[in-house]
Amino acid sequence: MKPVIHLIVAARPNFMKIAPLYHKLKQLNLFDIVFVHTGQHYDINMSASFLNDLSLPKPDINLGIGSGTHAEQTGYVMISYEKVLIENPPDWIVVAGDVNSTLACTVTAKKLNLKVAHLEAGLRSYDRTMPEEINRIVTDTLADVLWTPSEDADVNLRNEGIENSRIIRVGNMMIDSFEFLRNIIENQNTREHLGLHPKKYGIITLHRPSNVDSCYTLCPIISAITELAEKTKLVFPIHPRTQRMASKYDLLAKLQKNDNIVLVEPLRYVEFMNLVIQSQFVITDSGGIQEETTYLNIPCMTLRKNTERPITCSQGTNRLVNYDDLNICHEEILKGKWPHGRKPDLWDGKTATRVVNSLESLIA
Ligand code: UD1
Repeated sequence: MKPVIHLIVAARPNFMKIAPLYHKLKQLNLFDIVFVHTGQHYDINMSASFLNDLSLPKPDINLGIGSGTHAEQTGYVMISYEKVLIENPPDWIVVAGDVNSTLACTVTAKKLNLKVAHLEAGLRSYDRTMPEEINRIVTDTLADVLWTPSEDADVNLRNEGIENSRIIRVGNMMIDSFEFLRNIIENQNTREHLGLHPKKYGIITLHRPSNVDSCYTLCPIISAITELAEKTKLVFPIHPRTQRMASKYDLLAKLQKNDNIVLVEPLRYVEFMNLVIQSQFVITDSGGIQEETTYLNIPCMTLRKNTERPITCSQGTNRLVNYDDLNICHEEILKGKWPHGRKPDLWDGKTATRVVNSLESLIA
């Protein structure tokens, strides 16, 4: 009998991290793969379109937990996933990233003495007001194997007293997904379709609770974006959380009326990356986009006070900024003064191979 591995996905950023591993494992045919979706993200454009773009199948198991408070989401995943694990315990469980489901599946599996590997381990913002930071710390404390993307992650884990034997640096899996789909991404016509000219527009994405959940932060951010839109065209694929908050604070109409802001629903992965590769700059509070822009050498302004991905600032094109810095930063970009970056080590499209090698030796 082949060893059984659960691959867990939950929310939008997980799909790009699990897809390359899924395909590599299927190709090798050494393991039985059970593809588990917790259902944390459930809209077509937050979930199914990503499965499609990344050639992932319909999940074998969908826990269907949906939205809720942190405790509700975490609790529902634990209750549902525990039943699955008790009925058919796998040999290994692979969780990715830092969403509520990552923590919930890890805690559930470890309470049943099952083996867990964490992909994208060791990232730390050192800001415990971020829900994701709590998820990272708990997951890394419990998981048996910690697959890290970069040296800073290894250092964070060692500083927390984690044994070297649990830490394995594998690189950045997001880059594998991008390279896997590069041709398809380049051949999309999303930019033309939205009437944008190459390198003449910026992209905005926002969804962090610290930016969007209160008018105290969201209102000045939207004002700064509107001011920037007087000088350049902006495209804004709006996350469901942000759309709900913008509507609550009467900001949505302001965005919709602005001819220089192209407000669109969340885009499919290949559509979004088609926009990114041809953009002049990106303004974001996402984690993954900080990495993708570093890899693609595109200026990135991150609207946050900290980042769990400091390598994108020290080696890449990312800068942490405040909303009132956006205009000055834009001028620097126009003058060609924005620092160029370099690709961090092991962000090379071969991370899935390293992860599979690691899994093979763990199971041997
Ligand atoms: C979650 C992750 C975050 C990740 C982000 C990517 C946690 C704590 N947060 O945040 O780390 O960067 O996903 O998007 O796990 N909603 C929909 N349709 C969906 C999903 C969500 O309409 O398919 C709405 C719901 O009303 C929900 C809100 O968006 O209340 C937020 O969704 P939720 O999964 O709680 O968190 P995200 O903000 O998406």
